[in-house]
Amino acid sequence: MEFDLPKLAPSILAADFTILGEQIHACETGGAQWIHCDIMDGHFVPNISYGADIVAAAHRAAPNLFCDVHLMIEQPDHYIESFADAGADLITVHQEACPHLHRTIHLIRDHGCMAGVAINPATPVSLIEPVLNDLDLVLVMSVNPGFGGQSFIESTLDKLEQLRRLREESGNSWLLEVDGGVSEETIEQVVQAGADILVAGSSVFRSKAISERVQKLQEMASRASETA
Ligand code: DX5
Ligand code: ZN
Repeated sequence: MEFDLPKLAPSILAADFTILGEQIHACETGGAQWIHCDIMDGHFVPNISYGADIVAAAHRAAPNLFCDVHLMIEQPDHYIESFADAGADLITVHQEACPHLHRTIHLIRDHGCMAGVAINPATPVSLIEPVLNDLDLVLVMSVNPGFGGQSFIESTLDKLEQLRRLREESGNSWLLEVDGGVSEETIEQVVQAGADILVAGSSVFRSKAISERVQKLQEMASRASETA
């Protein structure tokens, strides 16, 4: 799949679930091509969000959007099949939740999905270096996962820069995604540090004009990438 980068990925965690389909359509009208789904289990992170049924509903509402599923759960191997069946194009698991990370990545691929690995703000890049050749996406958490609406953690910019360098040196082509606290205040910084997929939850869905906000954030990101 080819994408123009950088690309905004609205996270439906902050959406109004009584009108989820409408809100996803508003993102599409604003030019979004990705939708980000945050799955939380109350164990790996101290919050519970939603499961594969909601991902399937989001996918039915907008089947042309690239469905980016972020699993913040323990034992993700048990749930990969149900998220693949729900319509996930890409499934990201956390390094911190996967003792057999290489096996989990290949399980995701065996279910026909692209594979991503996420690292928390306190996790060093070195812990995923052994699997970088096997990935389609690396996700740098720029908040501690579990809740929308938190403040961006500045020190994660260094990790984006480090990963961008590693990707250049290795000739790999995985996407570099950032998640947490991405807003009009921070989007230019993350793009300049190297991020090419930009997850934004509250800054999109807490807006009264979702389409316009999506369009504005995407334009800011595209402009920032010209000077990156
Ligand atoms: C945080 C989630 C994020 C969250 C981002 O645990 O992984 O995707 O929805 O929300 P904002 O953009 O509000 O920080
Ligand atoms: Zn997420």
